[in-house]
Amino acid sequence: MRTQVAIIGAGPAGLMLGRLLQQAGIDNVILERKSADYVLSRIRAGVLEQGTADLLHKVGVGERVQAEGLPHDGIEMCFDGDLQRIDFTARVGRHVTVYGQTEVTRDLMDARQASGVETVYEADDVALHDIDSDHPHVTWRKDGVTQTLDCDFIAGCDGFHGVSRASVPERALALFDRHYPFGWLGILVEKPPVSEELIYAHHERGFALCSMRSLTRSRYYVQVPEGEKVENWSDDRFWDELRARINPEAAERLQTGPSIEKSIAPLRSFVAEPLRFGSLFLAGDAAHIVPPTGAKGLNLAISDVAMLGAALAEFYGERSKAGLDTYSKRALARIWKAERFSWWMTSLLHTFPETGAFGRRIQRADFDYLCGSVAAQTSLAENYTGLSLD
Ligand code: APR
Ligand code: PHB
Repeated sequence: MRTQVAIIGAGPAGLMLGRLLQQAGIDNVILERKSADYVLSRIRAGVLEQGTADLLHKVGVGERVQAEGLPHDGIEMCFDGDLQRIDFTARVGRHVTVYGQTEVTRDLMDARQASGVETVYEADDVALHDIDSDHPHVTWRKDGVTQTLDCDFIAGCDGFHGVSRASVPERALALFDRHYPFGWLGILVEKPPVSEELIYAHHERGFALCSMRSLTRSRYYVQVPEGEKVENWSDDRFWDELRARINPEAAERLQTGPSIEKSIAPLRSFVAEPLRFGSLFLAGDAAHIVPPTGAKGLNLAISDVAMLGAALAEFYGERSKAGLDTYSKRALARIWKAERFSWWMTSLLHTFPETGAFGRRIQRADFDYLCGSVAAQTSLAENYTGLSLD
């Protein structure tokens, strides 16, 4: 088998890249380790930057996000019960859209299936070969039979635990990592959200987030210590803890109910540099992880592949390597800004075992500065709604 670009992974990064390439007339095949149903069963974050929503429209899969996505003009920041709204529209003239990552994946998958472009699901033992040459190939096993795909380029869109980054020789990559000594316990519930906008809350008991998937389905999180077990958290314990951490008016309004999903996600910051090794390009979670506090994970994956897709279109359309040669540098510049923002939101809003009284006063000062400074609110709004691609 032969194609122009082999894409490893059918998450949002791989699927969006596939769509961009298809629209530019570039052949591509996606190889995904799991089944389509499994990919769609993963519950992930749900805030789209304006640029992400715009790109979904541009590639012709914007119908559902238009109909079902919830435009949000701001967020609430809460510190020990005190509230400050950050007005995105007033500060930067942009908004975000609340729409689940799972739905983005479904829209891209459906469009790909309808257009008949090949995706191999349940591809076992995907392996990358000759990535330091101009003639790489990929092998995998499907139903016990080994298959080979020759290609010009490989796009590693296979997430943090994928095979792509692991195929680059260790000496060719620099890894930057920050570990946070806590996780987020998340709950999904069939109840209307407590507030029209998201509430990000700092409290001495820990961080809390009130989010939503629709006007009838809510997503809530509380910070829990590293190593915490989900079995230790009955729904009642979760609701009590959430109420204790958010502002009293919201706590009073909160509509609780039985959880339909409950899980704990660890937090980390991670970047691998560079994003290119020979004919392999890394994008999305394969190259970087952000803690979820700034809602940047999905958006970064999409902005990476927007750049990579344009660079590949330039290569095939104009025979220019310029975009491919600068992809890593350009994407990393944007990635590090999102890493900084996510780290800052995480640092402001969580309690850290080592923070102490001095650290808490600094966090409070950071919050007070945000409340009193239009410049600080503009900075938050600019980053949250998404920096430009350049
Ligand atoms: N071979 C083939 N596919 C693989 C392999 C492998 N060895 N390893 C992983 N995959 C697949 C996974 O099953 C998954 O479907 O790659 C896909 C990667 O998708 P995501 O993890 O969703 O990563 P990405 O597309 O970069 O999207 C990033 O996902 O984790 C969230 O917060 C993150 O929102 C961000 C988004
Ligand atoms: C979510 O709705 O799951 C969500 C929203 C905002 C975040 C993280 C997660 O910052």
